[in-house]
Amino acid sequence: MGRTQFPKSQSAAEDAEELSHECKELLLSLPKERGWRTPHIYLYQGFWCQPKEIQAITNFQHHFQARDTDLILATMPKAGTTWLKAMAFAILNRKPIPVSTTHPLHTSNPHDLVPFLEYKLYANNNFPDLSKLPQPRLFATHVPFASLPESITKSNSRVVYMCRNPLDAFASSWHFLMKARPESLGPISIEEGFQMYCKGSMAFGPFWKHMLGYWKESIERPHKVLFLKYEDTKEDIIFQLKRLAKFLGVPFSLEEERKGVIEEIARLCSFENLKNLEVNQSGKSIGYFENKDLFRKGVVGDWVNLLTPLMAKQLVQVMEEKLEGSDLSFKVF
Ligand code: A3P
Repeated sequence: MGRTQFPKSQSAAEDAEELSHECKELLLSLPKERGWRTPHIYLYQGFWCQPKEIQAITNFQHHFQARDTDLILATMPKAGTTWLKAMAFAILNRKPIPVSTTHPLHTSNPHDLVPFLEYKLYANNNFPDLSKLPQPRLFATHVPFASLPESITKSNSRVVYMCRNPLDAFASSWHFLMKARPESLGPISIEEGFQMYCKGSMAFGPFWKHMLGYWKESIERPHKVLFLKYEDTKEDIIFQLKRLAKFLGVPFSLEEERKGVIEEIARLCSFENLKNLEVNQSGKSIGYFENKDLFRKGVVGDWVNLLTPLMAKQLVQVMEEKLEGSDLSFKVF
């Protein structure tokens, strides 16, 4: 397979200039590998990250104080974060009018309604103003469970994790990164990208470690972590919305069920609906990423259009080996 040319994007050099002295010192002590959107990614606390992410994550780790009522949505990139944010927001904001045309999801991208702790709130700020956030506070993160601040892991705050089968997650990431890789970094071939993913050196990876951290916690403390799968949610959205609402502390009443509120929320948050909204076809809600690039195909199994049978076999082997004994598995064929 050939190498791909990437469009112009934010210069990687610009990123480096925005780093604090402490962060630059920290980077010098960390193992590094070739990066996807920056020249290098670094192994911080056992997961791979870009320099600016590490700076933001350390801000978040040192300064965020979780409350018992906080709700945190956690994912790996491209696992369905935008969808999960929309569903959780819609569930929490369904009253008094369930899903009217004035619902905020019609005019705001889900990432503007549910802020990322590291990409938005603590990206350039140690003390963001959180006082005006609606209650309960709803946040999102890509940080692995083991690296969340203790105020999250030890308080009564709750965490929802959405996981996606690694073949589709890689395919989704590849398509997304083709758009986001700065031209100045030169091309990267799909073979290189794929091998990096299999080795674990991709944003917030290794993917198996990220998934297993939340998976184990969800088994040991089911009241603390709810584990959802992208594929299961696609297959039975109503069932998963009910699980989610119950976990978030706002279960659907029988009357709501009878009135079709759950179906309305499913429709509001559906790929087709969100993708076609004007707000999601323009603008940028996370960094320099285009909102329209957050909605590609939204299907299960699209990896067959990207990976060769040999690549798929290799990734399935990695999954089987790394997830062995955990009871976490994915249907891929
Ligand atoms: P594809 O690239 O396979 O289409 P994230 O939100 O974590 O960045 O994940 C992006 C993936 O979720 C993309 O997958 C995107 O199309 C898909 N997606 C976005 N919104 C969705 C929705 N409402 N329902 C289902 N999938 C959605």
